[in-house]
Amino acid sequence: MVNRSDVHYFGAGPAPLPTHVLEEAAKVLLNFKDKGIGICEISHRSPEANAILADTKQALATLLDIPDDYDILFLQSGGSGEFSAVVYNLVSIWVEKKRAQIAQEVGDDNDEVLKRLRKAVDEELKLDYLVTGSWSLKASQEAARLVGAKHVNVAVDARKSNDGRFGTIPDESTWTLTSREKGGPAFVYFCDNETVDGVEFPQFPKSLVGEDAPWVCADMSSNFISRKVDVRKYAVIFGGAQKNIGNTGIAIVILRKSLLPPVAQYASPDLLRQLNLPVGPIVLDYPTIAKNNSLYNTLPIFDVWVAGQVMASLVDSYGAKRIGGQEEISNDKARLIYDTLDKYPDVYRVVPDKSVRSRMNICFRVHGGDADKEKQFLADAERRGLTGLKGHRSVGGIRASNYNAVSLDGASKLVTFLNDYARGA
Ligand SMILES: Cc1ncc(COP(=O)(O)O)c(C=O)c1O
Repeated sequence: MVNRSDVHYFGAGPAPLPTHVLEEAAKVLLNFKDKGIGICEISHRSPEANAILADTKQALATLLDIPDDYDILFLQSGGSGEFSAVVYNLVSIWVEKKRAQIAQEVGDDNDEVLKRLRKAVDEELKLDYLVTGSWSLKASQEAARLVGAKHVNVAVDARKSNDGRFGTIPDESTWTLTSREKGGPAFVYFCDNETVDGVEFPQFPKSLVGEDAPWVCADMSSNFISRKVDVRKYAVIFGGAQKNIGNTGIAIVILRKSLLPPVAQYASPDLLRQLNLPVGPIVLDYPTIAKNNSLYNTLPIFDVWVAGQVMASLVDSYGAKRIGGQEEISNDKARLIYDTLDKYPDVYRVVPDKSVRSRMNICFRVHGGDADKEKQFLADAERRGLTGLKGHRSVGGIRASNYNAVSLDGASKLVTFLNDYARGA
């Protein structure tokens, strides 16, 4: 039998979890808080479940310094569900705002309001996407599927300046964001860390800052709670839990409260139908989820509990440094691995450009991507207990995912192996 302690797992998600959390999880699955029943058996509306929800939110708010004017939601539809949810919700707000503006100009003439609104939707509704990897590409494709491609403005497609492949973030001066003079986009979307391609935004894009900055939605599925984030710059931050935060089953959404009623109003389903725009499922409706404290329907409380335990232990470990403490360690581990790869240019080639290398998903080729040699590399690594290193099936190669639960010891063992392999040891 292979023991957990014999292995360092570098899978991209689902990903490793801290062993102490899993040990505690095994106990609470059988008997939660001495109630004689397990955590998966208690009601999601029980006081215990409510406490789990509150504690998990508190831990996240502490770690990321989330201001009071933001809400935290838990949904079950994974990261991909949020590709759709941001479109449904933010398009609905955009439409209702436009309708109210037009109604103010036109008065009670509903036919005229509808006529002008149709025209406005047709000519002005734009969702801006920064496509820097496979996941933002998928999100942009989902937006096009929902509202129609003509409303989706791919402000940058990183493949275009990199021989058809992801691996760079083109200079912001080349981005074709929807002009703010023309009302701007309903939102700008980007993926902070592209898990498949190993591309991470080094910092928040400068062109999305400013008084009249558009609403920004970011997918942080694979670099959530790994570095400091200025939450105020975002309208929506979301991520699936299954990489840095917990087990598969929930997505976490950090949402500016002004995107919820009573401040923001949403278009009615009838109006959206009249405009040929989609009406989203109720389980992706942010106002409904927020109003019900994420308990509109049965929330997997165990998944929330795991996320809460992981985050509470980071709060304990890093104290006043908060997520800054984790950021230092994540950076150190990533630096160790990249420095080693860079030492052997004849053996290893890091895939993305140096300026956008992900600290979380370290993608590289061995011997120029020779299939047999990469297979051998993976087999050799596995013999040393270094597993989960195979690159995503769409791009191949090697990917070492350096999530929070990968210890410094794990990263060091990988570094030793990389050195030994390159030297033929
Ligand atoms: C950056 C990113 N976004 C979205 C997703 C999709 O998440 P899910 O599988 O939970 O839908 C993934 C999954 O790996 C991801 O890495």
